Amino acid sequence: MHHILLCGGSGTRLWPLSNQQTPKQLLPLFEDRSLLQLTYLRNRTACTNIMAIMNAQQQHMIATQLQEAGAENPMLLAEPVGRNTAAAIALAAFVTAPETVLLITPADHLIGTPDLYAQTIATAKELAEADNLVTIGLQPNYPETGYGYIQYKGYDVLRFVEKPDLPTATLLLESRDYLWNSGIFCCKAGVMLEELQKYAPAIYEAAAIAAEEWLQTGTVSLGTMEAIPADSIDYAVMEKSQRVKVVPSYMQWSDVGSYEALSEALTQHYQYSNHQAVFINSDPQNSMVIGKEKLVALVGVENMVVVDTPGALLIMQKGKGQEIKQLHQWVKENR
Ligand code: GDD
Ligand code: MG
Repeated sequence: MHHILLCGGSGTRLWPLSNQQTPKQLLPLFEDRSLLQLTYLRNRTACTNIMAIMNAQQQHMIATQLQEAGAENPMLLAEPVGRNTAAAIALAAFVTAPETVLLITPADHLIGTPDLYAQTIATAKELAEADNLVTIGLQPNYPETGYGYIQYKGYDVLRFVEKPDLPTATLLLESRDYLWNSGIFCCKAGVMLEELQKYAPAIYEAAAIAAEEWLQTGTVSLGTMEAIPADSIDYAVMEKSQRVKVVPSYMQWSDVGSYEALSEALTQHYQYSNHQAVFINSDPQNSMVIGKEKLVALVGVENMVVVDTPGALLIMQKGKGQEIKQLHQWVKENR
């Protein structure tokens, strides 16, 4: 099995801690390791090869981090511009032998139960070997609108709904019929290409050209990459394909997609937080302070997120984490 590491994310939801140059997956947040490194380490027993697909801007940093984590000769495919996950996955599939099973993972998730994860992946691999497009499903516990929802029976997928609006997400959650899509996929390269050809032919055609260019020259030019329509694999294929199976898993999983999620994950790993913080009449358990440079004091406030970086200071009430995207947009336009 080959590990395909998707690491082209733009890092907007943890601004100012993460940014375009250093997205979330490259920050040494956990025991001095980054999420990217932890993802590599989690999969290196099950996978013989690794291929990282990333923005060209981050290639150097990713190569260094993978090397530090012990990866030997990782394949690196640098995109001059990101065209979302369908394009990245198509590229990986085109440059791999059709019968090879791919384990496609985001680089920015935290998984706390290695044994359960290994079991889940072993089942996914078996289903992928039988020519299925496999995803890992998780028990939802609140109506998140940023995830995909999977209606299931055993391993069968009855319906896949990507990023529903809040009323729909609430209904899906209450029905108890749905799992969250983890964004971890397992399938043969050839099976993925067949489904892309069927449901996203424009992506398939343009990615074929880009993959050929990469095989010939080792790079993909901006024009070739821009010719690939931008879409996520979830909308392009997973919502439409009839060959999707799901492995329900009870593994402990977080996509660290907000400061609230980071705060929860950091309660076990205080690497970044609270080093230089003092709490007066404030409960240190319900606030998170990130910052290494100066002493931060919280007096009489609760449920706060304080992030102190050289370039910016963020002060946020916990629970407002989804508004960071909007803030990041403002910063991009005004600073
Ligand atoms: N190489 C590359 N190029 N990687 C990319 C690109 C790109 O253009 N765009 C995104 N990625 C990487 C991200 O870095 C991340 O690791 C992964 O692909 C998934 O992309 P996200 O942008 O984080 O997707 P999402 O979180 O909105 O939704 C996906 O994940 C959810 C779970 O976290 C979907 O699969 C949902 O259905 C799922 O619930
Ligand atoms: Mg994500």
